[in-house]
Amino acid sequence: MSKLGVNIDHVATVRQARGESHPDPVNAAKLCEQAGAHSIVAHLREDRRHINDKDVWLLRKAVKTRFNLEMSVSEDIVKIACRLKPDQATLVPEKRKELTTEGGLDVLRHSHRLKQVIKRLNQKNIIVSLFIDPKEKQILKSKELGAHSVELHTGCYANAKTKLSKECELKKIQKAARFGKKIGIIVNAGHGLNYKNAKPIAKIKEIHELNIGHSIISYSIFAGLKKAVKDMLKLVK
Ligand code: PXP
Repeated sequence: MSKLGVNIDHVATVRQARGESHPDPVNAAKLCEQAGAHSIVAHLREDRRHINDKDVWLLRKAVKTRFNLEMSVSEDIVKIACRLKPDQATLVPEKRKELTTEGGLDVLRHSHRLKQVIKRLNQKNIIVSLFIDPKEKQILKSKELGAHSVELHTGCYANAKTKLSKECELKKIQKAARFGKKIGIIVNAGHGLNYKNAKPIAKIKEIHELNIGHSIISYSIFAGLKKAVKDMLKLVK
């Protein structure tokens, strides 16, 4: 069975919409763990658009399963990660104007910097995963650079418009996962997975963990909205 890491960034997105202290991503992390999540993921973006510095320190303390910090390789963020010591760091490319992480890291192009960052994080006992497109050359280089695992970007699969293109993207992920397993690196996957498209990815036996955020947080609104309204009605009556 694939493990499930839950990304709680968008709980913080709702909080930031009002500049309040709630909803609190730390409480969300605790509920996810109570529900059986195998790890908690949060992305400390350079622009701090959702998760902020205080959140990651509180999460570091509160998370009992595994705290997986998503991060860019910018020096400021790497310094924070080395002090914070999350259980895991997932290195992602980051562009300021993007709505979400748009593509995988080009591990071949940025191998020098990635090698340095992986070494520094490893020295702090942080395991490192690289978020990459499902391509053999990227997986091979990740292994060479000393990454503990890779996370295959499932965005193209999730966004594929036709059945044929979806199948084609799925095949790329299956092939990449098999290759990763063969060369001895742990393979995870994530991005854009939801209640309709996660199953075929979860069925790939070489995939160790799925990291899912937006769809779970979105679904939780509808799973809880009736109760929220009923509770308020009781109060105002
Ligand atoms: N994995 C990585 C590396 C990501 O950057 C993201 C998005 O923050 C996710 C998984 C989760 O993606 P989604 O929110 O689309 O489920």
